[in-house]
Amino acid sequence: MSSPNKMPFFKDAYHMSGAQRRVGAAAPASAVDGRVDSNGTAPVSLGVLTVFGVVVLIAGGILGGAGRFFDYRTMFRAGYERIPAPGEGDAQPPPKAALASYMARGAKIYAAKCIVCHGPEAKGDGINFPALAGSTWATGETQRFAMIILNGLQGPISNGKSYGAGMPSQAAGLTPEDVAGVMTYVRNNFGNNTGDIVTVAMAKAALEISAARAKAGQQVTAAELTADHRKALPGPPLDPTALVNPITLTPVRTSAPASAAPKP
Ligand code: HEC
Repeated sequence: MSSPNKMPFFKDAYHMSGAQRRVGAAAPASAVDGRVDSNGTAPVSLGVLTVFGVVVLIAGGILGGAGRFFDYRTMFRAGYERIPAPGEGDAQPPPKAALASYMARGAKIYAAKCIVCHGPEAKGDGINFPALAGSTWATGETQRFAMIILNGLQGPISNGKSYGAGMPSQAAGLTPEDVAGVMTYVRNNFGNNTGDIVTVAMAKAALEISAARAKAGQQVTAAELTADHRKALPGPPLDPTALVNPITLTPVRTSAPASAAPKP
């Protein structure tokens, strides 16, 4: 015999129509419209609220769409590498550390141009081809090293020995990026460890110096190298940790401290 009267709370809940009737009787819609409370305020009608809501929605859409409230493109913290928005900068590969980028390019050029003679570990063969591992002409002045690659070499080398007809010019087909890459690679691989980068700008200078040689087109000799090319190639150094475009090897502008990416 459970009577609803024994549970007044539920009684109200079960009798919603009754509750609604009581509320309706206390404040019918007609009484709400145009009502002024004793403190002077009036209830806002549903119609006014609806119009207001629509206006806010449209205005928000216009302002928000124009990027006034927030802008996806600026939603990153300074110093953090920002992932490009979808479709943005598709042509740009993600930047990489300069040394790693130059080394990657250099490894390809070494495999294509040098490995046949100097060997996979740059040890040469001890008879016809000298080692580049430990070579002071590879790790020493960059202009001398560049002249050997671009013109070939005839006669005694850094160790005083001569190897057959010498080394033919390797300049054919090499871009400044290729020259910079392979020089950086040989200088920092096979146990060589100069820790520096031969930049694209330095390689461009090397091509000009090579073309301006008095004996252009002929192999260089130890005598010419010593007389004219015991120099560092001109050009500002590049921080090995600076970020570069791995294809063009040019520094990428970042929000990192200016010291990380020296201006060209
Ligand atoms: C066709 C074979 C051949 C190729 C290819 C070749 N070299 Fe050589 N390289 C030689 C020979 C031979 C010598 C020794 C020249 C001499 O006796 O004057 C030499 C000497 C050198 C020297 C001087 C080493 C020293 O200690 O004095 C360097 C540096 C060098 N090569 C770098 C390179 C690089 C870098 C490449 C690739 C871009 C390359 N060579 C491609 C055959 C080659």
